[in-house]
Amino acid sequence: MQDRNNTIAGWVLFAGIIALGSTLVVSEVFHAQEVESCSDDASDGYCPPYVKEASLAAGGEQEAEQPIAFFLASADATRGENVFKKCSACHTVTAGGANKVGPNLYDIMGADIAAKPGFAYSDTLAGLEGNWGWDNMSAWLQSPRGFAPGNKMTFAGLGNPQDRADVMLYLNTLGSGIAVPPPPAMDDAVADAEEASAEGELQLAQDSDTADDLTENAVEGTGSQGGVDVPDAN
Ligand code: HEC
Repeated sequence: MQDRNNTIAGWVLFAGIIALGSTLVVSEVFHAQEVESCSDDASDGYCPPYVKEASLAAGGEQEAEQPIAFFLASADATRGENVFKKCSACHTVTAGGANKVGPNLYDIMGADIAAKPGFAYSDTLAGLEGNWGWDNMSAWLQSPRGFAPGNKMTFAGLGNPQDRADVMLYLNTLGSGIAVPPPPAMDDAVADAEEASAEGELQLAQDSDTADDLTENAVEGTGSQGGVDVPDAN
């Protein structure tokens, strides 16, 4: 009898240990899924790779969504002159300046694409229709190879949209002077941000829920307070 009691107690203890163990494992798993965004430097703990990737992707997408007009609103021609140092090995910008490896860029904003006299353009660039505006120039400077595959401007591109806005504004001071687009309206910016990522949308939805709750509370508060404040009718 004594033996059997010991055996039963042993099994009960064993079952308890298993239960405790699996609770720990399960809570660990669910805790990990609660993390929505983190990065190695920001979090002091472990940042699961799939969360880190999602966070990075969301950020990257948002940047890509901003139209160039957004960056033009805070662009600076003096900063742009500095950025242009990356171009000056191949391009002059003075009126009547020489063509070097690349064509002279005086009066280039608003000008016909690939139309500088005396420069031998690639067939690719020469084949493009239209004039240089803010959007196509931004796309060209972001990635010459992506914009016109097979062209002969061997330049990786300006990844930073603010650098592109700055250098375009600088070029626009040299002869061209085409109209700078107005900054995107606030509503558009909000709409863009909403489109940027499903995560962003979720966040906005949560925010507006909270706002609704607050409004409700405020209304209730005013109601009861109003009840107190209203003087008794005589
Ligand atoms: C390594 C040399 C090189 C560098 C650096 C370079 N370019 Fe160019 N660029 C060229 C060449 C070559 C072409 C002509 C491309 C073709 O015909 O395919 C060109 C063409 C252009 C054009 C088109 C001109 C036209 O007449 O339509 C623009 C605009 C331009 N470059 C701007 C820039 C800017 C701005 C930078 C700096 C951010 C820059 N380039 C850096 C070599 C360069």
